[in-house]
Amino acid sequence: MKKAPSYETQELREFARVLRGRRTIDQYIQTPVPDELVLEAIELATWAPNHYVTEPWRFILPGEETIGRIVDLCAETVAAQKGPELGEHKRKTWSQKPGWLVVTCRRNDDKLREREDYAACSAAVQNFMLYLWKAGIGSKWTSGAVTRDERLFEIIGADPAAEFVVGMIWFGYPKITPQQSRTDSDEVLTRLP
Ligand SMILES: Cc1cc2nc3c(=O)[nH]c(=O)nc-3n(C[C@H](O)[C@H](O)[C@H](O)COP(=O)(O)O)c2cc1C
Repeated sequence: MKKAPSYETQELREFARVLRGRRTIDQYIQTPVPDELVLEAIELATWAPNHYVTEPWRFILPGEETIGRIVDLCAETVAAQKGPELGEHKRKTWSQKPGWLVVTCRRNDDKLREREDYAACSAAVQNFMLYLWKAGIGSKWTSGAVTRDERLFEIIGADPAAEFVVGMIWFGYPKITPQQSRTDSDEVLTRLP
């Protein structure tokens, strides 16, 4: 049997470092992320695997005016449910997110196909986040209630009958990078004969 070629390269170790090191970032410094880099990250997101090459995703980059409307929607919703103080707190924290991306997935009456399409969109989001991470930019994937709110669809020009929101992704240069841990992979691995 032929020996497998050596895979121990610095490039591969660096790739592992990026995969392991990416963290969900909630707090950002107020430095804008270059638009060209974001566009590149979106293009790279589209190289995610997608069964039957359905390319089920849509990437929506809201501008200042649209972000303002989303922040208003969130603040109003939280205020109505939890009181004005928390509503204002949310308005403040959401207003400090430097970059916004909404990723949607095409709906499908075939639920198996839709599930696979959602998986593909998730892989696309990961491509987006990892590329930005390698460029020193953190992100946070959020799937809070606002991502299912019909008013959000109206704001972002999406048809809730035709697509659903996979996530709202905030991104920017990290202010704080939290620690995370993972269960040892031995504990989630089953080897079979
Ligand atoms: C589908 C999905 C939805 C998520 N939604 C939220 C969310 O609504 N709020 C939140 O704080 N984090 C959310 N996260 C981020 C996770 O909380 C985060 O990935 C987890 O804490 C592990 O941290 P890490 O990304 O730094 O490894 C979401 C992640 C995924 C994959």
